[in-house]
Amino acid sequence: MALRLITAGESHGPGLTCIVEGLPAGLELEQDAINRDMARRQLGHGRGGRMKIERDRADVTAGVRHGRTMGGPVALQIPNRDYGNWEERMNPWPVERSIPEVHLPRPGHADLVGTWKYRTGDVRNVLERASARETAARVAGGALAKAFLKAVGVEVRSHVTQITKVRAPARTTALTVEDFEGVDESPVRCLDAEASRAMVGEINVLRKQNESLGGTFEVIAFGLVPGLGSHISWEERLDGRIAMAMMSIQAMKGVGIGDGFDVAGVPGSQAHDEIFYDEERGYFRETNHSGGLEGGMTTGEPLVVRVAMKPIPTLTKPLRSVDIDTKEPAQALRERTDSCTVPAAGVVGEAMLAHVLADAYRTKFGGDHIDDVREAVRAYEERIGWRR
Ligand SMILES: Cc1cc2nc3c(=O)[nH]c(=O)nc-3n(C[C@H](O)[C@H](O)[C@H](O)COP(=O)(O)O)c2cc1C
Repeated sequence: MALRLITAGESHGPGLTCIVEGLPAGLELEQDAINRDMARRQLGHGRGGRMKIERDRADVTAGVRHGRTMGGPVALQIPNRDYGNWEERMNPWPVERSIPEVHLPRPGHADLVGTWKYRTGDVRNVLERASARETAARVAGGALAKAFLKAVGVEVRSHVTQITKVRAPARTTALTVEDFEGVDESPVRCLDAEASRAMVGEINVLRKQNESLGGTFEVIAFGLVPGLGSHISWEERLDGRIAMAMMSIQAMKGVGIGDGFDVAGVPGSQAHDEIFYDEERGYFRETNHSGGLEGGMTTGEPLVVRVAMKPIPTLTKPLRSVDIDTKEPAQALRERTDSCTVPAAGVVGEAMLAHVLADAYRTKFGGDHIDDVREAVRAYEERIGWRR
């Protein structure tokens, strides 16, 4: 891996940290762009009380000077604004008061197995790190990857396509970057106004029934050069890397590239993207069933990733569980929770896709300074006759 992203931090601890290593020097960063993404992760109808407390901000504490990277690891710190209320319970150091343990593992969360594996009788030691609060750090790091991608002409966008049984209508034309302009104004980050209203209604109904909701979202990268990733080895196939990154997001249970699972149900003539050439455009396709990947490499078409999220495991009317101290039947922990975070998950998906793609650019083009990267990309585009 040429670009590494590492996060640290617990849900109610002092704060989260993200370190991104492998960015070239000279890359211009915008503080507002990082914090805008932090805020976008907090958007969405169906969030719980915590989002009102959070209002996240990422402070850069290393690797950047006067708005530009210097080539060293970039460190970002995101304070947990709720820590004031958790200072005793989550203090890194011993405290005087005895702190009650959590003994009620939630089905669908890391709670039960985590206590076995990490040899603890207190579910809090597991849930604090398993919580998707960690995605705030990924989004901060992903914003750096996005800045890098922007410098080489790539934009990453996302939108929600389904919340439980409400689906946005299938698109008849391919999406462009411009289509995403108002997406964050929809309370569910859906591009279709009618589906957006229906999704909000669905969340309201199920939330009242103490239910949680899952759904699907799509992340698309525009402006990629062909040839990122490789068919040469399984580890280098970009589809595999993307699936891993997406599935690593808490609660994601399925990933499809392009038509994804749907290709299994159509004959070959409808599954592939025929190849054309003309003097003006060079090589081109008229369809994008492959979602911009063939043989584990980008084709130069928009890269389309579809992701399915399960309903959130913490329920306001808890599921049946067992008290791990007494072994008696009990109700699962009822921690403050969101009911639907598919819109936010899309923003996390953008961060993860941006990271994988930025890594693929760093692997293919190297360069110690961002201008070295740009020159290498330009030379390659010229060699293969690629026209944007
Ligand atoms: C943006 C986001 C927010 C989430 N918020 C919650 C939450 O409030 N409550 C909860 O129980 N799970 C939430 N989850 C899901 C859990 O973190 C996840 O289900 C859990 O870590 C177990 O991992 P698994 O579902 O991948 O097995 C959220 C996930 C994402 C992506």
